[in-house]
Amino acid sequence: MASIAAQRLEGKTVLITGASSGIGRSTAFEFARTAPNSGLKLILTARRIDALRQIAADISKETNDNVKVHTVQLDVSDPAAIRSFVGDLPAEFRDIHILVNNAGLVRGVAKAPEIVEEDMNIMFQTNVTGLINMTQAILPIFLARGSEGGEGDIINIGSIAGREPYVGGSIYCATKAAVRTFTDSLRKELIATRIRVIGVDPGQVETEFSVVRFYGDKSKADAVYSGCEPLTPDDIAEVIVFAATRRQNVVIADTLIFPSHQGAATVMHRKS
Ligand SMILES: NC(=O)c1ccc[n+]([C@@H]2O[C@H](COP(=O)([O-])OP(=O)(O)OC[C@H]3O[C@@H](n4cnc5c(N)ncnc54)[C@H](OP(=O)(O)O)[C@@H]3O)[C@@H](O)[C@H]2O)c1
Repeated sequence: MASIAAQRLEGKTVLITGASSGIGRSTAFEFARTAPNSGLKLILTARRIDALRQIAADISKETNDNVKVHTVQLDVSDPAAIRSFVGDLPAEFRDIHILVNNAGLVRGVAKAPEIVEEDMNIMFQTNVTGLINMTQAILPIFLARGSEGGEGDIINIGSIAGREPYVGGSIYCATKAAVRTFTDSLRKELIATRIRVIGVDPGQVETEFSVVRFYGDKSKADAVYSGCEPLTPDDIAEVIVFAATRRQNVVIADTLIFPSHQGAATVMHRKS
């Protein structure tokens, strides 16, 4: 017998941005493993298409092809690419029910006035305008569904950084504060519909995130987690899929997820 979560995902199509690594990748597997025989469809997007294809192949193998996966090379910081995204999808993948706005990044730890303009622009264009453009591209699909003004789930990945700014993170923190504000406004704007707007704010998760922050310097990235046991991307994926599989009238509006040694953005207990 299928679990309640699998039943609630019956016939649904899930779109995940930034699915080539970390939280997005884990979320793809978690949806597939939760509903391997429910006619689930996944659309996985990111810039690294080879990584997406490998994930798609692994999911197809694990689910005996019962979860259909479509991969798209998409840079969310490119507004034109987002504008043509829905129209370019194969017809059987266009009826999207769940959007996971996960693509995001941090670059550097510079403080003003040393912040590199290119880093500032890429963070805002990816984390903020990319997320908003993606939401605007998908919302018409949700608004046209059902008899109560619309149906669908928008799950935005924010961060503890959006609640608590820290030194060396002014731009990243500002982008995630913008995600939080946009998420909360959107929920209010859509209050007369059945569209659920869900915010998920992770604390410290070990992914490629810190490697990207330190421009590929793995030793600097590893130092972020020294003496700590960070969350895994699977931990966050479980929360995302949990939120998406509640009864339709239940909105997990806001979550903050820490590993047990973390008490705030920069308050960590480290074993010596
Ligand atoms: N790790 C943490 O501690 C942590 C904490 C709080 C929040 N978060 C948030 O969680 C989300 C996922 O990050 P992660 O930790 O899983 O890091 P990650 O392993 O580096 O994954 C980031 C994903 O975003 C994609 N991405 C980056 N820029 C993109 C662009 N312009 N267009 C499309 N996709 C893009 C990357 O794919 P490509 O490179 O293939 O494009 C990758 O799949 C981000 O929004 C991040 O801010 C992370």
